[in-house]
Amino acid sequence: MLDVQKIRNDFPILGREVNGHPLVYMDNAATTQKPRQVIQALVDYYENFNANVHRGVHTLSMEATDMYEDARKKVAKFINAGDPDTVIWTRNASESLNLVAYSWARENVESGENIVLTPMEHHSNLVPWQELTREKNAAIRYIPLDNEGVLDLSDIDSIIDDRTALVSVVHMSNALGTVNPIKKLCDLAHARGAKFLVDGAQSVPHMVVDVKEIDCDFMAFSGHKMMGPTGIGCLYAKKDVLEGMKPFLTGGEMVLEVSYEKASWADLPMKFEAGTPNIADAIALGVAVDYLEDIGMANIDEYERDLTGYALNKFIDVEEEGGKLFGPRNPDQRGGIISFDTPDIHPHDLGTLLDQMGIAVRTGHHCAMPLVRSLGVAATSRASFYVYNTKKEVDVLIEGILEAMRYFRDGVR
Ligand SMILES: Cc1ncc(COP(=O)(O)O)c(C=O)c1O
Repeated sequence: MLDVQKIRNDFPILGREVNGHPLVYMDNAATTQKPRQVIQALVDYYENFNANVHRGVHTLSMEATDMYEDARKKVAKFINAGDPDTVIWTRNASESLNLVAYSWARENVESGENIVLTPMEHHSNLVPWQELTREKNAAIRYIPLDNEGVLDLSDIDSIIDDRTALVSVVHMSNALGTVNPIKKLCDLAHARGAKFLVDGAQSVPHMVVDVKEIDCDFMAFSGHKMMGPTGIGCLYAKKDVLEGMKPFLTGGEMVLEVSYEKASWADLPMKFEAGTPNIADAIALGVAVDYLEDIGMANIDEYERDLTGYALNKFIDVEEEGGKLFGPRNPDQRGGIISFDTPDIHPHDLGTLLDQMGIAVRTGHHCAMPLVRSLGVAATSRASFYVYNTKKEVDVLIEGILEAMRYFRDGVR
């Protein structure tokens, strides 16, 4: 059994009050809170180890380099990448996706080919492909969704075909909560000779994600959505794929030999890490990984499924008042992201009223504008959970939504 109170005690911010109420933080799909251990790792690094990595022979530089490379090893183990050289540090999932679009796709996608996405992609896994396909005279194809926001694979053999260069799919949708059948889609892509990319921004923090088991060619994710700091993210890719790719950014650190005329590239992973890297945040992400592993990713998954099931049941009270839930009802097809619409209240007004009650939710298009528009709304409200959220907090959320709905309907609180 997972001791949520013990976990909560590690997060200083969860003890805060907002507008006179205990903070109920349910905007975890945007960014998660950080445990004291991660915050302390940043302080510790700057107080005791700060130096540039990979270039010094002095003690501080060597210590910083060891800590920085240890963090890479931890992340590699966390996603079962095997070789740490297959984990490239980036700023965030968006940069990881752009790295694939600029470096791999610009060399490998040809005119007349297609890239297969889903309609629920975050803009970060959509706009880079729009730019790329426009440049290359290639096409984007979308796997359709059913009414609940679950992928409809009935026509998949004609969507992924021999002209498909890449299938790039979000593991867990940040806008609907849908969890996609990643392994199945990866096998289908490979059967047609296409590469497969997983956007793991919302799955890696919440469940066991094993890149070897999926057999994906690429996976992108962000440190700040998994208790780590902002400004650090990862791209995993298979080693032979990375070796065949040109650098994305060039300059210091990523070179082997430089003359006035030309340069040759450093080995992996540094080939893709130009300039002084984000040393402190990488180290602190390693500490976040330790923290998550201490709890156990399977335990986190199980806890969040139970919490989400509880929230979905409670949400029936909101539906009885006219609220509408987006995304699948079946807890096996979704994660802890509840996206919804309330009649007669704009989501921004709902978000503002909930904030007055100390409840942090996100309102808007969640960087999935075409998807949210296709739901027939301009915006949704979204509560997203992490392992430190409780059923009591879900009760506060549901009561808050009902109170806001009553206020807008009857004008009284
Ligand atoms: C599914 C998904 N992909 C990609 C991203 C982009 O992550 P970042 O903003 O950290 O680059 C997000 C962020 O919300 C996301 O939810």
